[in-house]
Amino acid sequence: MKNVLIVSGHPELKNNSFANKIIMEDLEKLLPEATFDYLDRLYPDYQINAEAEQAKLAAADIIVLQFPIFWYSMPALLAKWMEDVFVRGFSHGSQGKALVGKKLVLSFTTGAPESAYDAAFPVDALTGRFVQTAGLTGMIYEGYVYTGGVSYADRTDPARAADMTAVSHAHAKRLAEKIASLM
Ligand SMILES: Cc1cc2nc3c(=O)[nH]c(=O)nc-3n(C[C@H](O)[C@H](O)[C@H](O)COP(=O)(O)O)c2cc1C
Repeated sequence: MKNVLIVSGHPELKNNSFANKIIMEDLEKLLPEATFDYLDRLYPDYQINAEAEQAKLAAADIIVLQFPIFWYSMPALLAKWMEDVFVRGFSHGSQGKALVGKKLVLSFTTGAPESAYDAAFPVDALTGRFVQTAGLTGMIYEGYVYTGGVSYADRTDPARAADMTAVSHAHAKRLAEKIASLM
């Protein structure tokens, strides 16, 4: 059995999330053996415990980053986590081999629909920094699970909210299936 670590990078999962909240709740049920790392609960002040986070990563075989896209990137909380935890001597550098061979899966959502990401800037372009990071740290990049069109603006419209609920549940199912295929 492989150890799965799911890192939730939404900065306000409890009070200001629609899609990521549903996805994480479903994953808790679908993957009861996984370790769930809620950065918003642990680090509301953005003061990351790098040693504790490094220990979780070291124990994992499969690392999943779950987050909403903010400004064509990851939320600041997840970026801060990476900056503090992925340090020379741990993840890279001649002595930094802790992540070598671990599988990396991205799981993210956007407010804009997938159709808004065109040939000039496709959804794949959102993953570039993580693909490069996997390469540098020796992780095996296993691709992503993506859902678009889960917009803040639509949360109060009952029909749109029902659609967003359905695609969020479907996202969690697709992610659980992807993780199962890597076990
Ligand atoms: C600060 C901020 C920046 C955002 N930037 C983008 C963006 O660059 N592209 C996009 O498609 N959606 C963007 N969104 C929308 C979020 O990606 C969307 O609301 C989120 O994926 C939905 O997940 P949630 O319901 O769990 O919050 C942004 C939202 C916020 C709050």
